[in-house]
Amino acid sequence: MEVSIKINGVDQSHDVEPRMLLVQYIREAAGLTGTNIGCDTSSCGACTVHLNGESVKSCTVLAAQVSGMEVDTIEGLANDDGTLHPVQQAFHECHAL
Ligand code: FES
Repeated sequence: MEVSIKINGVDQSHDVEPRMLLVQYIREAAGLTGTNIGCDTSSCGACTVHLNGESVKSCTVLAAQVSGMEVDTIEGLANDDGTLHPVQQAFHECHAL
């Protein structure tokens, strides 16, 4: 099925299996590997992205469920000047894995 998602401000559209998870879509279809799969129990948070501005674990959402929505990954949070985004700074300060 055709799934269209705006990722980091760029419209993406790919033909994928209906069962594809959002984290797989981001990594395999969109080619953005900053979002990781760190567990198989939805407990680690390594797959966290912003979905329409809200934090979600992308391993718990089907890509098809968010077609037409906006996703920001860690790549989208990077600043050109080398400073950390507040989310990245919080991860650093709290020793997030
Ligand atoms: S991969 Fe661990 S919570 Fe999603």
